[in-house]
Amino acid sequence: MSTLDQELRLQAEEAKKKRGETAASDPYRQNYHIMPPVGLLNDPNGVIQWNGVYHLFFQWQPFHTGHGAKFWAHVTTKDFVDWKEEEIALAPGEWYDKNGCYSGSAIEKDGRLCLIYTGNVRDEEGNRETYQCLAVSEDGKVFEKKGVVARLPAGYTAHFRDPKVWKKDGTYYMVLGAQTEKLTGSAVLFTSENVTDWTFVGAIAGADSGGLGSFGYMWECPDLFSLDGTDVLLVCPQGLDADGMKYHNSHQAGYFLGRLDIEPLEFKHGEFTELDRGFDFYAAQTLEDDKGRRILFAWMGVPDQEEDKHPTHAYHWVHCLTMPRQLSLSNGRIIQRPLPEMKSRRTDEQKRRLQLECSSAALPVKDASRAEVLLDDITYKSGFEISIRGAARFIFHQEKGLAVLERTAFSGEEKETRSCAISEVHSVQLFLDASSIELFLNDGEEVFSARYFPFPGNDEVTVTSTGSTEINASIWTLL
Ligand code: FRU
Repeated sequence: MSTLDQELRLQAEEAKKKRGETAASDPYRQNYHIMPPVGLLNDPNGVIQWNGVYHLFFQWQPFHTGHGAKFWAHVTTKDFVDWKEEEIALAPGEWYDKNGCYSGSAIEKDGRLCLIYTGNVRDEEGNRETYQCLAVSEDGKVFEKKGVVARLPAGYTAHFRDPKVWKKDGTYYMVLGAQTEKLTGSAVLFTSENVTDWTFVGAIAGADSGGLGSFGYMWECPDLFSLDGTDVLLVCPQGLDADGMKYHNSHQAGYFLGRLDIEPLEFKHGEFTELDRGFDFYAAQTLEDDKGRRILFAWMGVPDQEEDKHPTHAYHWVHCLTMPRQLSLSNGRIIQRPLPEMKSRRTDEQKRRLQLECSSAALPVKDASRAEVLLDDITYKSGFEISIRGAARFIFHQEKGLAVLERTAFSGEEKETRSCAISEVHSVQLFLDASSIELFLNDGEEVFSARYFPFPGNDEVTVTSTGSTEINASIWTLL
């Protein structure tokens, strides 16, 4: 480890000591989501189950609440409920990662835990360089950097990053997000026999190919895996224009379903579908565990989207991850359900049967800063809405076939919305934390994720029917 690396680790520990208490005292501090001890969190990285333990890393800026030269923070869990903070995994202390140990992934090789990440470098004139790098651990705690293992191929700009690695039939594969020299977004593939020597194979998808027209100037954070026999490419295109109800966030996160062939290289795919209909969702990354489950984490934030307007900056921290979600495929769509382990957080169950005729009912939520609300067996004529802590509203318009999440904008009083088309709603599962909402419709058919900043202590969650509505409501406080 270089002296600079050691120095940076000490400074990060210092920052935690100095500002950790202030961060912990924020009423908007989350109760069960992963967030930085201080500073800024963005993408989840290196999600893996290794030797029976789930490891999760995240992009971390310990020194302030902006972006910059990222570290990899590290947390572990056996059950997705109790999380342990581990030592810093990577610090940006080498020539090839000095401006950030950017996003990447984890893979097991010969019993060791390997991290493959992007080394971000800026030269004196501010020009970007990019290197794909390897770090290896024997114990899953201390990572030894092995340096650069893949370089920028011809035809691409230095916006070339976020390796996601997997192994199939004895070969290692790595998909990366890229920008071509024509300034279009793309996802590219490398292969390797040993994770240390990588060969560039080519692009698997991108703007102006595979039936896509112009489709963004850069693609970030790809992930590629097989789900129930279909190949899935998750990716974050940047630079899509809003289109009807789609693409209203500053950058998008979604997926293509298809089939990946290696020889000759081809990923035949369908349309791009957004993974989440809400405000705050980006850089999703998945792992497959020993139960064969495909589990997704994402950043509950979006680059360049009012990041400076979060009130938590005043407490020296910003952003968090989403809850873990389990993926499956149904009717050509990805279904996302809260991981079943989340049920073990439930305490203090309340049940109600609501029968509403153009009327409202308050739900018995004791602590809306850590609650789950499950509304099911919903029948309605017309539609209904759920008002959440005076700072957000979920609205279902039956006639318009529309689901809407509205929240108070971070910058003031005005309201903003995100919507999706849906013809019927038979269940709504709401996860409330101190400053976030995750709302699963129809058992994971659509999900809305959002940060929000309600008045602390306001526990009001109210259902209002615009016609006649019947609902079975179950409410829990989450540990
Ligand atoms: C996505 C991203 C990645 C990059 C990382 C840097 O949010 O821009 O492309 O690796 O964040 O923190």
